[in-house]
Amino acid sequence: MHILIVGGAGYIGSHMVKYLMKLNHQVTVIDDLSNGFKDAVLTPNVVWADMADEAVIRKLFKSNQFDAVMHFASFIQVGESVTHPIKYYQNNFSKTMQLIKMMIECDVKRFIFSSTAAVYGNPVYTPIDEVHPKTPINPYGRSKLMVEEALADLRQSASLEYVSLRYFNAAGADPEGELGERHQPETHLIPLVLQVANGRLPCIKVFGDDYDTEDGTCVRDYIHVLDLAEAHIRAVEYLVKGGESRAFNLGNGNGFSVKEVINTAEEVTGKKIHIETVARRAGDPPILVADSQDAKNILGWRPQYSDLATIIKHAWAWERKFAW
Ligand code: UFG
Repeated sequence: MHILIVGGAGYIGSHMVKYLMKLNHQVTVIDDLSNGFKDAVLTPNVVWADMADEAVIRKLFKSNQFDAVMHFASFIQVGESVTHPIKYYQNNFSKTMQLIKMMIECDVKRFIFSSTAAVYGNPVYTPIDEVHPKTPINPYGRSKLMVEEALADLRQSASLEYVSLRYFNAAGADPEGELGERHQPETHLIPLVLQVANGRLPCIKVFGDDYDTEDGTCVRDYIHVLDLAEAHIRAVEYLVKGGESRAFNLGNGNGFSVKEVINTAEEVTGKKIHIETVARRAGDPPILVADSQDAKNILGWRPQYSDLATIIKHAWAWERKFAW
């Protein structure tokens, strides 16, 4: 297949590029480097441009036969989305609409969209399946849900086929150590915990230990970045075989508390990780665990790196390699 990776210089996009190349698929990347890194793109087939640049996109679509477009280019900081909502609606929604409009005009048919568990908001029940109510509690989640809803509207009028993949907590790194998570600023739990283990941060701030969970800290479903990559390939194959456009959850179905993550990181790294308990972070639901039965039953997806220690081990190898 020939796949266009939008946002191929970012965390998940760069792993996707490598994964596809290993399977001998052809990839082309478009990235504006607003958050990604040039050296994370392992293919020379790259266009450094804005995904909403009509001339660039038209030329790309006219000069290539893409089997699918995978779209990873979005802003992901929940807190920032609250203080700068326009930035999120502009990038995550408006620019995505522009990209989709160009796909339709140029007859590029398959779209794989990076969505998020944030579309659900505060869980009404757990584990969360795809029909769970969708009431996002921040502009980040809402910007993703708006794209999902627009895609559903397009089913009536356009020939576009799509799969939205709702990631739970993406984590881990390339097991070969070539790629990893590199957000600036870093806000995610596992990389921060490992920065503490590596002596780059004095302690990890635990955002609240008074939640209604077993140890009082928030519970999340961590899913390895390569398992996400595999789900994207299966999503394209599903559409090629005539599967109906829809959304799938991607998670392991196992919840780990913040304290459990820290304990596992201590075991993996052999280092003491100092904790400071601080106030709750706004917008954090107490428990987010995925029901991914549909991805398993319909896409035939099976996470390969579902063990938390393995996820942390790969992330630790990356953290040890780069002390930016
Ligand atoms: N946490 C801490 N200290 C930190 C960082 C995080 O205690 O320094 C806690 C958070 O409060 C949360 C858990 O660790 O309970 C995981 O936090 P992350 O920031 O790693 O991930 P989130 O669960 O906030 O974010 C994920 C995705 C988002 C998505 C969100 C949906 O990364 O894209 O789930 O709620 F929007």
